[in-house]
Amino acid sequence: MVAFRAFSLVAALACAAFSFAAPVTPAYNALEARCGCSPLPAVIATLETSVTPLVYELHYMTKDNCTAAAVTPIVADIKVAVNVAIADVKVLAGVGIETVLATSTGVLAVVDVAKIVAGVICLIFNAVGYILTIVVAAERDAVCALLAEVIVLVGTLLQLILSLVGGLLVCLLPLITNVLYVAVRLNVAGVFAFLGISL
Ligand SMILES: *[C@@H]1O[C@H](CO)[C@@H](O)[C@H](O)[C@H]1NC(C)=O
Repeated sequence: MVAFRAFSLVAALACAAFSFAAPVTPAYNALEARCGCSPLPAVIATLETSVTPLVYELHYMTKDNCTAAAVTPIVADIKVAVNVAIADVKVLAGVGIETVLATSTGVLAVVDVAKIVAGVICLIFNAVGYILTIVVAAERDAVCALLAEVIVLVGTLLQLILSLVGGLLVCLLPLITNVLYVAVRLNVAGVFAFLGISL
């Protein structure tokens, strides 16, 4: 426990040390127009808005109606939303970090990027985790195959985001370790090898 606290403190300090302080951008909209891209905070916000109602649909399921047939359209919609985010994040490769992290009020600190990224990851992983607790044996294999597709896709998105923002991993890990068991349960933990921790 003491060792863990010490580690957390080191991680927190390392995390706080990273910030891309920059002069406040003059006009966010002009910036968006110039790079022809959506900065990462906007991409994450859009993803969160898109998946929130879908995640609620999963949380409203009961063991009686949690079937592969019922999960399929919800999972399909979540995948569409994650794929939109993946495409938007790919556009940001090679764009300056101050543009990548631009918001309407300035440049987001890495600590805060970690919070919003962790927020949307936890939203999706917790809903998937809930389904794992209710799905009946007869539906389990088919439902797990669907859920695994979502988790793998989120892994792709996460890896792309981490490659964009230096120092993000150390800030993000403490915020998502609690939900990563979901990847293990779905046998797709290998997809998250890029996190550099054993799951
Ligand atoms: C499952 O049943 C619950 C409780 O009746 C309901 O709220 C939910 O909308 C249902 N979901 C589906 C996908 O049928």
